Amino acid sequence: MLKGQLITLDEFTIQETRKFPQATGELSSLLRDIALAGKLINKQVRKAGLSDILGAQGTSNIQGEEQMKLDVLADETLIHVLKNSTDCAGIASEENDDHVCFEDTVSTNSKYVVLFDPLDGSSNIDVNASIGTIFSIYRRVSPIGQPCTIEDFLQPGNKLMAAGYIIYGSSTMMVYATKLGVNGFTLEPSIGEFCLSHPNMKCPENGKIYSLNQGNTVKYSAGLKAYLEYCMESNKAEGRPYSHRYIGSMVGDLHRTLIKGGIFMYPADSSSPNGKLRLQYECNPMTFIVQAAGGTGSTGTMDVLDVQPTELHQRVPIYIGSKNMVAKAIAMAHAPETV
Ligand code: AHG
Ligand code: MN
Ligand code: MN
Repeated sequence: MLKGQLITLDEFTIQETRKFPQATGELSSLLRDIALAGKLINKQVRKAGLSDILGAQGTSNIQGEEQMKLDVLADETLIHVLKNSTDCAGIASEENDDHVCFEDTVSTNSKYVVLFDPLDGSSNIDVNASIGTIFSIYRRVSPIGQPCTIEDFLQPGNKLMAAGYIIYGSSTMMVYATKLGVNGFTLEPSIGEFCLSHPNMKCPENGKIYSLNQGNTVKYSAGLKAYLEYCMESNKAEGRPYSHRYIGSMVGDLHRTLIKGGIFMYPADSSSPNGKLRLQYECNPMTFIVQAAGGTGSTGTMDVLDVQPTELHQRVPIYIGSKNMVAKAIAMAHAPETV
């Protein structure tokens, strides 16, 4: 049974645009294009076991990671849709070495660029667990009327206009944030529309779940090990021990964190001083979303959104989720005597 009146993503973004008389509707139109790419990727994901798209592509991306067939397919789909969009001047993708500037007249006259992780959680593709697409939208800093430039893509997260993700889980959802807040839309498959299902999402200030790859503990700092001990300690009044959940798909783990509260971490360790996750494709968009919902995201030493990117594929450590849990984790993991 459907609840109440259905509001589609398009209707919602148009209503939001009307709150700003000077808005041109270009951002709504771009979100519609990204939603279209999401629906096309969703179509492939839903029949993945039946068609020949499971498994490895046989190639590596710039970060030396093995590409799955679905990584490549999702990447091609987003590029195709955004190239045809009337509102995108260029893109940068986790799966490609360099950014791409679209050089046709419509694109050079567009004011936005889009960055994306086309398929997040690749290791989950073959086992039918949640995967996702993460996107970021920046207003370009290069002059309109000319092709975009690398500077458009190296803006800090605090300059984001919007960011979001599409999660291909037990249902398919698109969640996007602007500075106005975070809203979630569930794909109604029979009409092929994302419909508002999670208005004004808020990340609880506290939670009871911690999420990280605990198999790496041997490589963590003494402070972080102490925090993990704290998570596992029994303290009824504070609701500990916390539960541990880790899907291995940032989108999946953070979607849960956004709804239920908790903390997600991909910290630095002795072999990866910058952690694993990518600033421009994963950490910035997810931090923007979580902060717009009242949570927070930090590298351990600074707000993720304040990191000035110096190259497209750089990595940063991340602690993200419920405000109070992130503060506690950082206080322990980055205490001067334990780092
Ligand atoms: P991607 O599939 O886009 O390469 O990202 C995978 C990321 C992230 O989604 C997840 O949280 C993390 O890698 C898992 O890494 P580990 O297997 O090292 O825990
Ligand atoms: Mn990813
Ligand atoms: Mn990916």
